[in-house]
Amino acid sequence: ALVVRHRMQSSGRWARAMAILREVEEKCGTPISKLRQVADAMTVEMHAGLASEGGSKLKMLISYVDNLPTGDEKGLFYALDLGGTNFRVLRVQLGGKDKSVVNQEFDEVSIPPHLMTGTSEELFDFIARALEKFVATEGEGFHPAPGRQRELGFTFSFPVRQLSISSGTLIKWTKGFNIEDAVGQDVVGELTKSMEKIGLDMRVAALVNDTIGTLAGGRYHNQDVAAAVILGTGTNAAYVERAHAIPKWHGLLPKSGEMVINMEWGNFRSSHLPLTEYDQALDVESLNPGEQIFEKIISGMYLGEIVRRVLSRMAEEADFFGDTVPPKLQIPFILRTPDMSAMHHDTSPDLRVVGGKLKDILEISNTSLKMRKVIVELCDIVATRGARLSAAGIFGILKKLGRDTVRDGEKQKSVIALDGGFCPPCCISFPIRGRRGIMRNDQSQEHIIEQ
Ligand code: GLC
Repeated sequence: ALVVRHRMQSSGRWARAMAILREVEEKCGTPISKLRQVADAMTVEMHAGLASEGGSKLKMLISYVDNLPTGDEKGLFYALDLGGTNFRVLRVQLGGKDKSVVNQEFDEVSIPPHLMTGTSEELFDFIARALEKFVATEGEGFHPAPGRQRELGFTFSFPVRQLSISSGTLIKWTKGFNIEDAVGQDVVGELTKSMEKIGLDMRVAALVNDTIGTLAGGRYHNQDVAAAVILGTGTNAAYVERAHAIPKWHGLLPKSGEMVINMEWGNFRSSHLPLTEYDQALDVESLNPGEQIFEKIISGMYLGEIVRRVLSRMAEEADFFGDTVPPKLQIPFILRTPDMSAMHHDTSPDLRVVGGKLKDILEISNTSLKMRKVIVELCDIVATRGARLSAAGIFGILKKLGRDTVRDGEKQKSVIALDGGFCPPCCISFPIRGRRGIMRNDQSQEHIIEQ
Protein backbone atom coordinates (compact mmCIF):
# COMPACT_ATOMS: atom_id res chain seq x y z
CA ALA A 1 0.00 0.00 0.00
CA LEU A 2 2.87 2.34 0.81
CA VAL A 3 4.42 1.79 -2.58
CA VAL A 4 1.11 2.48 -4.33
CA ARG A 5 0.60 5.67 -2.30
CA HIS A 6 4.11 6.79 -3.11
CA ARG A 7 3.53 6.18 -6.82
CA MET A 8 0.26 8.13 -6.75
CA GLN A 9 1.92 10.99 -4.91
CA SER A 10 4.79 11.17 -7.33
CA SER A 11 2.52 11.07 -10.37
CA GLY A 12 0.51 13.91 -8.81
CA ARG A 13 3.71 15.90 -8.33
CA TRP A 14 4.79 15.24 -11.88
CA ALA A 15 1.42 16.42 -13.17
CA ARG A 16 1.74 19.64 -11.13
CA ALA A 17 5.26 20.25 -12.46
CA MET A 18 4.07 19.69 -16.02
CA ALA A 19 1.15 22.05 -15.46
CA ILE A 20 3.63 24.76 -14.42
CA LEU A 21 5.76 24.06 -17.49
CA ARG A 22 2.75 24.16 -19.86
CA GLU A 23 1.59 27.44 -18.37
CA VAL A 24 5.03 28.99 -18.93
CA GLU A 25 4.98 27.65 -22.48
CA GLU A 26 1.60 29.19 -23.16
CA LYS A 27 2.46 32.56 -21.63
CA CYS A 28 5.77 32.74 -23.51
CA GLY A 29 4.14 31.87 -26.80
CA THR A 30 5.10 33.99 -29.80
CA PRO A 31 2.82 33.06 -32.69
CA ILE A 32 3.42 35.02 -35.90
CA SER A 33 0.36 37.21 -35.25
CA LYS A 34 1.89 38.35 -31.96
CA LEU A 35 5.30 38.94 -33.54
CA ARG A 36 3.64 41.15 -36.14
CA GLN A 37 1.96 43.16 -33.38
CA VAL A 38 5.30 43.55 -31.60
CA ALA A 39 7.00 44.64 -34.84
CA ASP A 40 4.22 47.16 -35.54
CA ALA A 41 4.40 48.52 -31.99
CA MET A 42 8.18 48.88 -32.42
CA THR A 43 7.68 50.89 -35.63
CA VAL A 44 5.08 53.14 -33.96
CA GLU A 45 7.37 53.78 -30.97
CA MET A 46 10.29 54.55 -33.29
CA HIS A 47 8.24 57.31 -34.93
CA ALA A 48 7.18 58.67 -31.53
CA GLY A 49 10.74 58.67 -30.16
CA LEU A 50 12.04 60.51 -33.24
CA ALA A 51 9.23 63.07 -33.09
CA SER A 52 10.03 64.56 -29.69
CA GLU A 53 12.36 64.17 -26.72
CA GLY A 54 10.61 61.89 -24.21
CA GLY A 55 7.92 61.05 -26.77
CA SER A 56 8.35 57.31 -26.30
CA LYS A 57 9.86 54.59 -24.16
CA LEU A 58 12.32 54.33 -27.05
CA LYS A 59 14.80 57.14 -26.57
CA MET A 60 15.95 57.06 -30.21
CA LEU A 61 19.19 58.83 -29.28
CA ILE A 62 21.01 60.93 -31.85
CA SER A 63 24.57 59.63 -32.13
CA TYR A 64 26.19 62.50 -34.08
CA VAL A 65 27.52 59.78 -36.39
CA ASP A 66 26.46 60.97 -39.84
CA ASN A 67 28.73 58.87 -41.97
CA LEU A 68 30.04 55.37 -41.61
CA PRO A 69 33.32 53.70 -42.61
CA THR A 70 33.92 52.94 -46.26
CA GLY A 71 36.79 50.52 -45.84
CA ASP A 72 39.34 53.08 -47.07
CA GLU A 73 40.38 54.23 -43.57
CA LYS A 74 44.09 54.25 -42.75
CA GLY A 75 46.11 54.64 -39.57
CA LEU A 76 46.45 53.45 -35.99
CA PHE A 77 43.33 53.50 -33.87
CA TYR A 78 42.77 52.65 -30.22
CA ALA A 79 39.43 51.60 -28.78
CA LEU A 80 37.93 51.00 -25.36
CA ASP A 81 34.83 48.90 -24.88
CA LEU A 82 32.92 49.15 -21.62
CA GLY A 83 29.43 47.89 -21.07
CA GLY A 84 29.12 44.21 -20.33
CA THR A 85 30.78 42.00 -17.81
CA ASN A 86 34.12 42.45 -19.52
CA PHE A 87 36.02 45.48 -20.52
CA ARG A 88 38.22 45.47 -23.62
CA VAL A 89 41.09 47.55 -24.92
CA LEU A 90 42.09 47.27 -28.54
CA ARG A 91 44.43 48.72 -31.14
CA VAL A 92 44.13 48.28 -34.85
CA GLN A 93 46.27 49.32 -37.78
CA LEU A 94 44.12 49.92 -40.84
CA GLY A 95 45.77 49.80 -44.24
CA GLY A 96 43.05 51.34 -46.40
CA LYS A 97 41.39 49.85 -49.48
CA ASP A 98 42.28 46.20 -50.24
CA LYS A 99 44.49 45.89 -47.19
CA SER A 100 41.87 46.67 -44.50
CA VAL A 101 42.96 45.37 -41.07
CA VAL A 102 46.74 45.06 -41.19
CA ASN A 103 47.29 44.33 -37.55
CA GLN A 104 45.28 44.21 -34.37
CA GLU A 105 45.71 43.36 -30.70
CA PHE A 106 43.37 43.42 -27.80
CA ASP A 107 43.17 42.69 -24.12
CA GLU A 108 40.16 41.78 -22.04
CA VAL A 109 39.79 42.42 -18.34
CA SER A 110 36.79 41.45 -16.25
CA ILE A 111 35.41 44.30 -14.20
CA PRO A 112 35.65 43.69 -10.46
CA PRO A 113 31.99 43.64 -9.32
CA HIS A 114 32.55 46.27 -6.60
CA LEU A 115 33.48 48.78 -9.32
CA MET A 116 30.06 48.31 -10.95
CA THR A 117 28.33 49.88 -7.97
CA GLY A 118 31.08 52.10 -6.52
CA THR A 119 32.04 55.64 -7.53
CA SER A 120 32.60 57.14 -10.94
CA GLU A 121 36.20 58.05 -10.10
CA GLU A 122 37.07 54.47 -9.08
CA LEU A 123 35.63 53.02 -12.28
CA PHE A 124 37.33 55.49 -14.64
CA ASP A 125 40.65 55.30 -12.77
CA PHE A 126 40.55 51.51 -13.25
CA ILE A 127 39.84 51.92 -16.96
CA ALA A 128 42.57 54.52 -17.48
CA ARG A 129 45.14 52.32 -15.73
CA ALA A 130 44.23 49.29 -17.86
CA LEU A 131 44.51 51.43 -20.98
CA GLU A 132 47.88 52.83 -19.89
CA LYS A 133 49.24 49.29 -19.44
CA PHE A 134 47.98 48.28 -22.85
CA VAL A 135 49.42 51.33 -24.64
CA ALA A 136 52.79 50.55 -23.06
CA THR A 137 52.86 47.22 -24.92
CA GLU A 138 52.50 48.81 -28.39
CA GLY A 139 55.16 47.22 -30.54
CA GLU A 140 56.19 46.65 -34.11
CA GLY A 141 53.40 46.49 -36.64
CA PHE A 142 51.69 49.58 -35.25
CA HIS A 143 52.52 53.00 -36.59
CA PRO A 144 51.30 56.03 -34.67
CA ALA A 145 51.19 59.25 -36.71
CA PRO A 146 54.46 61.05 -35.86
CA GLY A 147 54.10 63.98 -33.46
CA ARG A 148 50.35 63.42 -33.03
CA GLN A 149 48.45 62.46 -29.90
CA ARG A 150 47.05 58.94 -30.02
CA GLU A 151 43.30 58.91 -30.61
CA LEU A 152 40.79 56.73 -28.87
CA GLY A 153 37.30 55.55 -29.73
CA PHE A 154 35.29 54.96 -26.57
CA THR A 155 32.47 52.43 -26.79
CA PHE A 156 30.32 53.03 -23.75
CA SER A 157 27.28 50.78 -23.85
CA PHE A 158 24.72 52.63 -21.81
CA PRO A 159 22.16 55.28 -22.73
CA VAL A 160 24.00 58.56 -23.32
CA ARG A 161 22.68 61.93 -24.39
CA GLN A 162 25.35 62.93 -26.88
CA LEU A 163 26.50 66.55 -26.83
CA SER A 164 28.83 65.99 -29.79
CA ILE A 165 30.55 63.04 -31.44
CA SER A 166 33.05 63.03 -28.58
CA SER A 167 31.04 63.94 -25.49
CA GLY A 168 27.80 62.97 -23.82
CA THR A 169 26.07 62.63 -20.47
CA LEU A 170 24.95 59.36 -18.96
CA ILE A 171 21.14 59.16 -18.81
CA LYS A 172 20.91 56.08 -16.59
CA TRP A 173 22.72 52.83 -15.89
CA THR A 174 21.44 49.45 -17.10
CA LYS A 175 22.62 45.80 -16.87
CA GLY A 176 23.64 45.68 -13.21
CA PHE A 177 25.76 48.84 -13.15
CA ASN A 178 24.69 51.40 -10.60
CA ILE A 179 27.14 54.23 -9.94
CA GLU A 180 24.99 57.10 -8.82
CA ASP A 181 27.45 59.95 -9.05
CA ALA A 182 28.13 59.24 -12.73
CA VAL A 183 24.52 59.80 -13.84
CA GLY A 184 24.25 63.17 -15.62
CA GLN A 185 28.05 63.42 -16.01
CA ASP A 186 29.98 63.65 -19.27
CA VAL A 187 31.59 60.22 -19.44
CA VAL A 188 34.39 61.45 -21.71
CA GLY A 189 35.17 64.20 -19.19
CA GLU A 190 35.36 61.57 -16.43
CA LEU A 191 37.67 59.33 -18.46
CA THR A 192 39.86 62.26 -19.53
CA LYS A 193 40.28 63.32 -15.88
CA SER A 194 41.44 59.81 -14.97
CA MET A 195 43.85 59.67 -17.93
CA GLU A 196 45.33 63.07 -17.04
CA LYS A 197 45.85 61.98 -13.44
CA ILE A 198 48.26 59.26 -14.58
CA GLY A 199 49.76 61.27 -17.44
CA LEU A 200 48.28 59.14 -20.23
CA ASP A 201 48.44 61.31 -23.32
CA MET A 202 45.41 60.33 -25.42
CA ARG A 203 42.40 62.10 -26.84
CA VAL A 204 38.91 60.62 -26.98
CA ALA A 205 37.94 61.22 -30.60
CA ALA A 206 34.55 59.48 -30.48
CA LEU A 207 32.07 58.31 -27.89
CA VAL A 208 29.71 55.65 -29.19
CA ASN A 209 27.27 53.02 -28.04
CA ASP A 210 28.15 49.36 -28.82
CA THR A 211 25.32 49.21 -31.34
CA ILE A 212 26.90 52.11 -33.23
CA GLY A 213 30.30 50.42 -33.08
CA THR A 214 28.75 47.24 -34.47
CA LEU A 215 27.03 49.19 -37.23
CA ALA A 216 30.28 50.94 -38.17
CA GLY A 217 32.20 47.65 -38.03
CA GLY A 218 29.56 45.98 -40.20
CA ARG A 219 29.64 48.79 -42.78
CA TYR A 220 33.43 48.61 -42.88
CA HIS A 221 33.10 45.13 -44.40
CA ASN A 222 29.72 45.34 -46.13
CA GLN A 223 28.03 48.42 -47.53
CA ASP A 224 24.56 46.77 -47.37
CA VAL A 225 24.51 46.90 -43.56
CA ALA A 226 21.45 48.91 -42.54
CA ALA A 227 21.20 48.21 -38.82
CA ALA A 228 23.04 46.62 -35.92
CA VAL A 229 21.72 44.60 -33.02
CA ILE A 230 23.39 43.60 -29.78
CA LEU A 231 22.31 40.37 -28.08
CA GLY A 232 24.64 40.30 -25.12
CA THR A 233 24.42 41.08 -21.43
CA GLY A 234 21.86 43.63 -22.61
CA THR A 235 20.08 44.12 -25.92
CA ASN A 236 19.81 47.13 -28.19
CA ALA A 237 19.75 48.25 -31.83
CA ALA A 238 20.98 51.11 -33.99
CA TYR A 239 20.23 51.99 -37.60
CA VAL A 240 20.79 54.61 -40.24
CA GLU A 241 17.94 57.13 -40.43
CA ARG A 242 17.31 59.90 -42.96
CA ALA A 243 18.09 63.15 -41.13
CA HIS A 244 14.89 64.85 -42.29
CA ALA A 245 12.86 61.99 -40.77
CA ILE A 246 14.01 63.08 -37.30
CA PRO A 247 11.66 65.93 -36.32
CA LYS A 248 13.35 66.39 -32.93
CA TRP A 249 16.74 67.09 -34.56
CA HIS A 250 17.20 70.86 -34.75
CA GLY A 251 20.88 70.88 -35.66
CA LEU A 252 22.40 71.38 -39.09
CA LEU A 253 21.41 68.85 -41.69
CA PRO A 254 24.45 66.59 -42.16
CA LYS A 255 26.00 66.51 -45.64
CA SER A 256 25.26 62.83 -45.98
CA GLY A 257 21.60 63.51 -45.16
CA GLU A 258 21.81 60.63 -42.69
CA MET A 259 22.08 60.17 -38.96
CA VAL A 260 22.69 57.01 -36.98
CA ILE A 261 20.15 56.46 -34.20
CA ASN A 262 20.77 54.49 -31.01
CA MET A 263 17.29 53.16 -30.30
CA GLU A 264 17.86 51.87 -26.74
CA TRP A 265 15.28 49.22 -27.61
CA GLY A 266 15.98 47.40 -24.34
CA ASN A 267 13.51 49.83 -22.80
CA PHE A 268 10.77 48.94 -25.31
CA ARG A 269 7.53 47.84 -23.76
CA SER A 270 4.15 46.93 -25.22
CA SER A 271 0.95 45.23 -24.11
CA HIS A 272 1.69 42.73 -26.89
CA LEU A 273 4.82 41.40 -25.19
CA PRO A 274 4.32 37.89 -23.82
CA LEU A 275 5.16 38.48 -20.14
CA THR A 276 4.86 35.92 -17.35
CA GLU A 277 4.58 36.25 -13.60
CA TYR A 278 8.26 35.21 -13.43
CA ASP A 279 9.27 38.18 -15.59
CA GLN A 280 7.18 40.49 -13.45
CA ALA A 281 8.77 39.26 -10.21
CA LEU A 282 12.25 39.51 -11.73
CA ASP A 283 11.52 43.09 -12.77
CA VAL A 284 10.14 44.15 -9.39
CA GLU A 285 13.21 42.77 -7.59
CA SER A 286 15.71 44.19 -10.12
CA LEU A 287 18.00 47.23 -9.78
CA ASN A 288 15.78 49.10 -12.26
CA PRO A 289 12.12 48.10 -11.75
CA GLY A 290 9.76 49.07 -14.54
CA GLU A 291 12.62 49.72 -16.94
CA GLN A 292 14.33 47.75 -19.71
CA ILE A 293 11.43 45.29 -20.00
CA PHE A 294 12.31 44.10 -23.55
CA GLU A 295 15.89 43.60 -22.35
CA LYS A 296 14.73 41.59 -19.35
CA ILE A 297 13.06 38.96 -21.54
CA ILE A 298 15.71 38.80 -24.25
CA SER A 299 19.20 39.39 -22.98
CA GLY A 300 21.94 37.37 -21.38
CA MET A 301 21.81 39.07 -18.04
CA TYR A 302 18.32 37.70 -17.38
CA LEU A 303 17.45 34.49 -19.26
CA GLY A 304 19.16 32.12 -16.81
CA GLU A 305 17.48 33.92 -13.94
CA ILE A 306 14.04 33.45 -15.51
CA VAL A 307 14.73 29.71 -15.81
CA ARG A 308 15.88 29.61 -12.18
CA ARG A 309 12.66 31.28 -11.07
CA VAL A 310 10.49 28.74 -12.88
CA LEU A 311 12.52 25.81 -11.51
CA SER A 312 12.24 27.25 -8.05
CA ARG A 313 8.43 27.40 -8.37
CA MET A 314 8.42 23.79 -9.63
CA ALA A 315 10.49 22.77 -6.61
CA GLU A 316 8.26 24.61 -4.16
CA GLU A 317 4.86 23.72 -5.53
CA ALA A 318 5.43 20.37 -7.18
CA ASP A 319 8.38 18.96 -5.23
CA PHE A 320 10.12 18.67 -8.58
CA PHE A 321 13.49 17.97 -7.00
CA GLY A 322 12.14 15.89 -4.10
CA ASP A 323 10.70 16.75 -0.72
CA THR A 324 12.91 19.74 -0.06
CA VAL A 325 13.65 22.79 -2.16
CA PRO A 326 17.36 22.77 -3.08
CA PRO A 327 18.82 25.75 -1.16
CA LYS A 328 21.08 26.89 -4.02
CA LEU A 329 18.06 27.22 -6.27
CA GLN A 330 16.85 30.07 -4.06
CA ILE A 331 19.86 32.27 -4.86
CA PRO A 332 19.07 34.95 -7.45
CA PHE A 333 21.24 34.95 -10.58
CA ILE A 334 23.05 31.75 -9.57
CA LEU A 335 22.08 30.16 -12.91
CA ARG A 336 23.90 32.20 -15.53
CA THR A 337 22.73 32.38 -19.12
CA PRO A 338 25.85 30.66 -20.56
CA ASP A 339 25.05 27.68 -18.30
CA MET A 340 21.42 27.73 -19.35
CA SER A 341 22.56 27.84 -22.97
CA ALA A 342 24.89 24.85 -22.42
CA MET A 343 21.95 22.86 -21.01
CA HIS A 344 19.72 23.98 -23.87
CA HIS A 345 22.22 22.68 -26.42
CA ASP A 346 23.02 19.41 -24.69
CA THR A 347 22.87 16.81 -27.44
CA SER A 348 24.14 13.85 -25.42
CA PRO A 349 21.57 11.02 -25.23
CA ASP A 350 21.57 11.00 -21.43
CA LEU A 351 21.67 14.81 -21.15
CA ARG A 352 24.83 14.68 -19.13
CA VAL A 353 25.60 18.39 -19.55
CA VAL A 354 22.27 19.18 -17.89
CA GLY A 355 23.05 16.69 -15.12
CA GLY A 356 26.50 18.21 -14.62
CA LYS A 357 25.24 21.80 -14.45
CA LEU A 358 22.49 20.86 -11.97
CA LYS A 359 25.05 19.18 -9.78
CA ASP A 360 27.83 21.76 -10.01
CA ILE A 361 25.74 24.92 -9.81
CA LEU A 362 22.61 23.95 -7.90
CA GLU A 363 23.96 20.95 -5.97
CA ILE A 364 21.12 18.81 -7.27
CA SER A 365 22.04 15.21 -8.01
CA ASN A 366 20.12 12.08 -8.96
CA THR A 367 17.87 13.66 -11.53
CA SER A 368 16.09 11.34 -13.93
CA LEU A 369 16.40 11.66 -17.70
CA LYS A 370 12.72 12.63 -17.77
CA MET A 371 13.42 15.55 -15.40
CA ARG A 372 16.44 16.66 -17.40
CA LYS A 373 14.29 16.69 -20.53
CA VAL A 374 11.83 19.00 -18.82
CA ILE A 375 14.67 21.36 -17.97
CA VAL A 376 15.90 21.43 -21.58
CA GLU A 377 12.35 22.16 -22.69
CA LEU A 378 12.11 25.04 -20.23
CA CYS A 379 15.39 26.51 -21.49
CA ASP A 380 14.06 26.18 -25.03
CA ILE A 381 10.82 28.01 -24.20
CA VAL A 382 12.63 30.96 -22.61
CA ALA A 383 15.37 31.17 -25.26
CA THR A 384 12.94 30.86 -28.18
CA ARG A 385 10.78 33.67 -26.85
CA GLY A 386 13.84 35.93 -26.66
CA ALA A 387 15.08 34.98 -30.12
CA ARG A 388 11.72 35.48 -31.80
CA LEU A 389 11.08 38.80 -30.06
CA SER A 390 14.44 40.14 -31.13
CA ALA A 391 13.65 39.05 -34.69
CA ALA A 392 10.31 40.92 -34.41
CA GLY A 393 12.24 44.01 -33.27
CA ILE A 394 14.47 43.78 -36.34
CA PHE A 395 11.43 43.42 -38.54
CA GLY A 396 10.03 46.59 -36.88
CA ILE A 397 13.19 48.47 -37.95
CA LEU A 398 12.95 47.12 -41.50
CA LYS A 399 9.35 48.30 -41.64
CA LYS A 400 10.34 51.77 -40.44
CA LEU A 401 12.93 51.86 -43.21
CA GLY A 402 10.49 50.57 -45.82
CA ARG A 403 12.74 47.60 -46.39
CA ASP A 404 10.23 44.95 -45.34
CA THR A 405 8.76 44.37 -48.76
CA VAL A 406 10.03 43.96 -52.27
CA ARG A 407 9.64 47.36 -53.96
CA ASP A 408 9.12 47.75 -57.70
CA GLY A 409 10.15 44.17 -58.17
CA GLU A 410 13.64 45.18 -57.07
CA LYS A 411 15.36 42.96 -54.59
CA GLN A 412 16.88 44.98 -51.81
CA LYS A 413 19.34 43.28 -49.57
CA SER A 414 19.30 44.28 -45.93
CA VAL A 415 22.20 43.17 -43.82
CA ILE A 416 21.97 43.32 -40.05
CA ALA A 417 25.24 43.34 -38.13
CA LEU A 418 24.91 41.34 -34.93
CA ASP A 419 27.17 41.18 -31.92
CA GLY A 420 27.14 40.15 -28.28
CA GLY A 421 27.88 36.94 -26.49
CA PHE A 422 24.38 35.56 -26.69
CA CYS A 423 23.64 35.44 -30.38
CA PRO A 424 21.83 32.20 -31.04
CA PRO A 425 24.58 29.80 -32.09
CA CYS A 426 23.01 28.63 -35.29
CA CYS A 427 20.16 30.77 -36.52
CA ILE A 428 16.94 32.54 -35.82
CA SER A 429 14.46 32.37 -38.64
CA PHE A 430 11.27 34.23 -39.21
CA PRO A 431 9.01 34.75 -42.18
CA ILE A 432 9.19 37.93 -44.22
CA ARG A 433 6.12 38.09 -46.43
CA GLY A 434 5.73 34.39 -46.71
CA ARG A 435 9.38 33.72 -47.44
CA ARG A 436 11.80 32.77 -44.80
CA GLY A 437 14.34 35.34 -43.80
CA ILE A 438 17.30 33.84 -42.09
CA MET A 439 19.71 35.43 -39.71
CA ARG A 440 22.76 33.35 -40.22
CA ASN A 441 25.76 33.13 -37.99
CA ASP A 442 28.54 32.55 -40.45
CA GLN A 443 32.19 32.61 -39.66
CA SER A 444 32.56 36.32 -40.23
CA GLN A 445 30.12 36.89 -37.36
CA GLU A 446 27.78 38.65 -39.75
CA HIS A 447 24.19 37.64 -39.76
CA ILE A 448 22.24 38.30 -42.86
CA ILE A 449 18.58 38.78 -43.41
CA GLU A 450 17.88 38.03 -47.03
CA GLN A 451 14.63 38.74 -48.74
C1 GLC B 1 21.80 48.09 -22.57
C2 GLC B 1 22.30 49.52 -22.74
C3 GLC B 1 22.55 49.86 -24.20
C4 GLC B 1 23.43 48.80 -24.82
C5 GLC B 1 22.85 47.41 -24.60
C6 GLC B 1 23.74 46.30 -25.17
O1 GLC B 1 20.54 47.99 -23.15
O2 GLC B 1 21.38 50.44 -22.18
O3 GLC B 1 23.12 51.14 -24.34
O4 GLC B 1 23.59 49.05 -26.18
O5 GLC B 1 22.68 47.18 -23.23
O6 GLC B 1 25.00 46.33 -24.61
